[in-house]
Amino acid sequence: MLSAEDNDALTRVGPGTPMGELMRQYWIPACLSSELAADGEPMRLLLLGERLIAFRDSAGRVGIMEHRCPHRCASLFFGRNEQNGLRCVYHGWKFDVHGNCVDMPNVPASQDFRHKVKARACKVVERAGMVWAYMGPRAEAPPLPEIEALMLPDVERVLRVHQRECNWLQSLEGDIDTSHFGFLHIGSLDADDVDPETMHRWGVVDRAPDYKVRETEWGTMYAAYREAAPGTYYYRFAHFLLPFFTFTPNGTFRDQVQCTINVPMDDTHTLTYNVNWTRRTPPLQTLKTGEPIPGLNPDMKYLPRTNDWYGRWRLEARRDNDYFIDREVQRHHTFTGIQGIGRQDQAAVECMGEIVDRTLEHLAPSDRMITLTRRRLLMAARQLQNENKVPATVDSAHLYRQARGGAFVAPADIDWLEAYGRNLREAISPLGMLVAQAAE
Ligand code: FES
Ligand SMILES: [Fe+2]
Repeated sequence: MLSAEDNDALTRVGPGTPMGELMRQYWIPACLSSELAADGEPMRLLLLGERLIAFRDSAGRVGIMEHRCPHRCASLFFGRNEQNGLRCVYHGWKFDVHGNCVDMPNVPASQDFRHKVKARACKVVERAGMVWAYMGPRAEAPPLPEIEALMLPDVERVLRVHQRECNWLQSLEGDIDTSHFGFLHIGSLDADDVDPETMHRWGVVDRAPDYKVRETEWGTMYAAYREAAPGTYYYRFAHFLLPFFTFTPNGTFRDQVQCTINVPMDDTHTLTYNVNWTRRTPPLQTLKTGEPIPGLNPDMKYLPRTNDWYGRWRLEARRDNDYFIDREVQRHHTFTGIQGIGRQDQAAVECMGEIVDRTLEHLAPSDRMITLTRRRLLMAARQLQNENKVPATVDSAHLYRQARGGAFVAPADIDWLEAYGRNLREAISPLGMLVAQAAE
């Protein structure tokens, strides 16, 4: 349970809110690079409750700026994207990607004051197939996060995005809530159905693991563990990384290079980006017969895109059609009757309401990671608010490199963090691998 005041502090992201200000210290994924074409249509963009316009100019540079023209506040959505700038259609003022006014054609040359006018623009970079915006207060933006999944070349990376019609934190809490996996996703699976050779069977055999959790420099981490073969534990590690990243445990630790990003569009809408290394071992997906596990195959069709603030990356299966739940399938084949792991997650986090009322919860020992992460976020937001102190990850982007999610089996008589350290040293680093390959 959380107080209403803390719930408010955690979930509100607009300008001036504690969490909104914390997020504005970091680079924020704004959209996919592929959504903007040079001299193409300007796009409405909702980010942390701010209404913005994104466009790509003739030279391929991306601009993201306040949607209201600084002259008399007409929306730049209707602007003409022409010759390295966006021209407002009301009186023709034109702005470059940095927000500089470069033309003021409705004013006589002698009275032109374009050099005094600036549209409020974000700093912008492109990486990992995404456009990132810095909306914070610094003249020099901080470094980008050194998260390996976000540093892979295009051919080594799969990137997906979808919109969630709920607050960013309840979406993120789904990523670090490991005990739901044995129910929401594989609740009707029997241990006998699974390949006895795969270590992931332990997660099916025992669905009530114990937990270790701790704060880290980059956020929080947990290990869910249960006995595997005698004298060993099956561990599933996952991380929360400030301010909105997660590494989930659903895969093999050795090569699981993956990242999920829950970016608030506003308080009640989230864009969830999933980034995966193409060469990671797929997580548990098949029965021992080789057949797919019922109900898990992804089925994430999108609704047609619109120009509305909320018109991008909406899924066809949604709250108002009950995610196409099939009660017959639920009765006889799968736990939920909802098809697809992503759709199941979507239903779970959206059905709580747009912003879940956390005063109503009854948290269990299985929720320790969620409790700790809330505390960590509140502490970071309040330190910024009261002491003007930013978390270490703002300036020390390499701290993220110590985090890795995934599962392994380790001797039960070694400490969980020692087991983590050992496995981290032996894990595959795709970037290291690519560097070595290039040197050959
Ligand atoms: S409102 Fe944009 S040029 Fe006048
Ligand atoms: Fe899930």
